[in-house]
Amino acid sequence: SKYTIVNKETCIACGTCESIAPDIFAYDEEGISYVILDDNKGIAEVPEEFVEDLEDAEEACPSESIKVGTCPFSELALG
Ligand code: F3S
Repeated sequence: SKYTIVNKETCIACGTCESIAPDIFAYDEEGISYVILDDNKGIAEVPEEFVEDLEDAEEACPSESIKVGTCPFSELALG
């Protein structure tokens, strides 16, 4: 299982992740990315069919703001 969350503090609104993984990421009104699966809580299991896109987006993010893990992120994880 894969889980993901965007560190909105470090996202620079580069606009890459939604283009790579539009089923997982969208941008808020300031262009900052968030996970649409669970409103960026990091607790929704990423559907298997989207995991490859997720990993591509993680690699492509220039600010390393996309966090991917094998268990749910707690809301405290990113401070
Ligand atoms: Fe932000 Fe990285 Fe996406 S900088 S817009 S989280 S690719």
